Amino acid sequence: MTGVTAVQSAAPIIGRLVVVGLGLIGGSFAKGLKESGLCREVVGVDLDPQSRQLAVELGVVDRCEDHLATACVGADVIQLAVPILAMEKLLGVLAGLDLGNAVLTDVGSAKGNVVRAAREVFGTMPARFVPGHPIAGSEQSGVEASNAQLFRRHKVILTPLPETDPAALSLVDRLWSVLGADVEHMDVERHDEVLAATSHLPHLLAFGLVDSLAKRNENLEIFRYAAGGFRDFTRIAGSDPVMWHDIFLANRDAVLRTLDTFRSDLDALRDAVDAGNGHQLLGVFTRARVAREHFGKILARRAYVEKVAAEDLSFLAQPGGSVRGQIRVPGDKSISHRSIMLGSLAEGVTEVEGFLEGEDALATLQAFRDMGVVIEGPHHGRLTIHGVGLNGLKPAPGPIYLGNSGTSMRLLSGLLAAQRFDSVLTGDASLSKRPMARVAEPLRQMGAVIETAAEGRPPLTIRGGKALTGISYVMPMASAQVKSCLLLAGMYAEGTTTVTEPAPTRDHTERMLRGFGYPVAGNGATASVVAGGTLTATRIEVPADISSAAFFLVAASIAEGSDLLLEHVGVNPTRTGVIDILRLMGADISVQNLREVGGEPVADLRVRHAGLKGIVIPEALVPLAIDEFPVLFIAAACAEGRTVLRGAQELRVKESDRIQAMADGLTVLGIKVEPTADGLIIEGGQIGGGEVDGQGDHRIAMAFSIASLRAAAPIRIRDCANVATSFPNFLALCSQVGIRVAQEGQS
Ligand code: S3P
Repeated sequence: MTGVTAVQSAAPIIGRLVVVGLGLIGGSFAKGLKESGLCREVVGVDLDPQSRQLAVELGVVDRCEDHLATACVGADVIQLAVPILAMEKLLGVLAGLDLGNAVLTDVGSAKGNVVRAAREVFGTMPARFVPGHPIAGSEQSGVEASNAQLFRRHKVILTPLPETDPAALSLVDRLWSVLGADVEHMDVERHDEVLAATSHLPHLLAFGLVDSLAKRNENLEIFRYAAGGFRDFTRIAGSDPVMWHDIFLANRDAVLRTLDTFRSDLDALRDAVDAGNGHQLLGVFTRARVAREHFGKILARRAYVEKVAAEDLSFLAQPGGSVRGQIRVPGDKSISHRSIMLGSLAEGVTEVEGFLEGEDALATLQAFRDMGVVIEGPHHGRLTIHGVGLNGLKPAPGPIYLGNSGTSMRLLSGLLAAQRFDSVLTGDASLSKRPMARVAEPLRQMGAVIETAAEGRPPLTIRGGKALTGISYVMPMASAQVKSCLLLAGMYAEGTTTVTEPAPTRDHTERMLRGFGYPVAGNGATASVVAGGTLTATRIEVPADISSAAFFLVAASIAEGSDLLLEHVGVNPTRTGVIDILRLMGADISVQNLREVGGEPVADLRVRHAGLKGIVIPEALVPLAIDEFPVLFIAAACAEGRTVLRGAQELRVKESDRIQAMADGLTVLGIKVEPTADGLIIEGGQIGGGEVDGQGDHRIAMAFSIASLRAAAPIRIRDCANVATSFPNFLALCSQVGIRVAQEGQS
């Protein structure tokens, strides 16, 4: 039963498959392919008569041959699944046979030595030999453990050479794919390096540690005191010693390289312990912990991505409902980014509370860890940042990947333009399409050297060691990211850096710089900094993000019977355009308990249902509500009459083209809209049901979720995974207050 469900049944594409070596790997390969029906016959060869007999009895192969030569005459594919050190001898025997047109492949866990051996015995690497390595194993061994599903969802690495016949490669690829494996192609050298680091070194350490402890404690008494840590670390020392001995001999060079690097890192750790250098230890441990989590996520995501790839990550929102209760939405995204940046550059230790643990802010956090800053947490929104001072950053070990986050890339570009080292900034598909010339151009005027891809798009390559000079820059667009980028660069530039904005934009950078004791001059439209100051560590309490609260402000406004309290929301006047616009439309929002926390105004917002009417949105409010338009368009769709937005061309270059994305979705839902170059005209009406595209843009996905409250039928929203960039617990909070939206397939 098991194998039958694992593999697809198909018409035979090859005549005879010969599997040499009927252990766990060879037996599982044979069994899976036998069950697939892809081979007319599967023939086993093994030195051990008992294994041959069992293989036939257990249905692993159709039959066995005692002699390799007999089995191989007329074979179409020959799989070599013998221990790695036996491979050379086996290849020598095969070289003496007439293999006709047979494709050869193998499963050895090191590839350099197999290729070397093949070259030696055949005189040249046979074009129809495709070296391979399935990364699958189990504590079990022997033909009796053969499992047709063993390779399902496991990686199989094929290491073709320039001379490898593409038809042979694609046949071997096909065989593994039929077994459910995830096949990748790689260079021989890279394969051996990767495996040495991720598999061989850990086994060496596990065997070595257990032996070292055991040797010095002959009665093995100390193991009585061993707890989970020892058990977890040394589990793999229970693996087959002979097989591992073979692997280390076979992959000697790559293992030595990774071992030597590790030895010097271990020496550095030893020195840190010796010197009582807790800071360094904490740095290693926090980085390692994050790397481990990341690695855990990759593994978890593999299962998840497989599921999602087939289904996409969609939300399904049920129509109707009212919104009631009291919630606190997660921390402000803009302030969270800035807390990491300034905390890292400060002298001393900065404590942050309320940090947004969304993917965007975490991308900034990881970037600074990569540049050598020790950051503890996040733990329930709390962080401890061990500042390195304005000149204490170190080069990241490779390109800095910033995911979906435009704020990270634009602000970091200013900071990195002033460092002594080069940096490369990259991002996901959406970020890779966003305009970066708006920061690169003025930074170049300051003396920075920045290369971009075509049309000023990422990746950005920033050359270090350039002396910057302050400029007075009049921004062509209202952008807090551009302003902040230049102010950060200005801390390192000779003279004064002044930025003038065409309309007020969020001023978190200016406020936070002052909070860290760095003077920022300016009035309304301009802000200036002078180099030479220092940032002094401080405490930051991040208020809840008004951009996330906006979804609930609209939700409670449009749904009859709603009454909701949003706690501790940041109400910086450069961010409250959404409240002003909703109030102009007739919303019932009261700002309660207004207070100032760490230089930012904070309040509780109470919102109750109200009949909304369409308005012409005052253009002066556009930059103050720039991120809230997707959900404001939903409010407009529910309002009586027409709403007109103009002067918002910036919406076309956000995480998606938000004018088009919302116009498309609203049209699907039966709302009359007219997109313009710089805005949208919306006629209020009855929202219908249907399927809309979230376009991988968090705010589009969340806006359409809110629309369901007034929809006549369910709304299905596709491509929603990026909600996690700014609002990881969006669905949980929706369900808490009565909005019935869930990840599809879950309720
Ligand atoms: C942000 C500024 C705005 C905003 C973005 C965050 C910031 O971008 O849309 O979500 O944190 O400075 P622009 O500067 O491009 O307007």
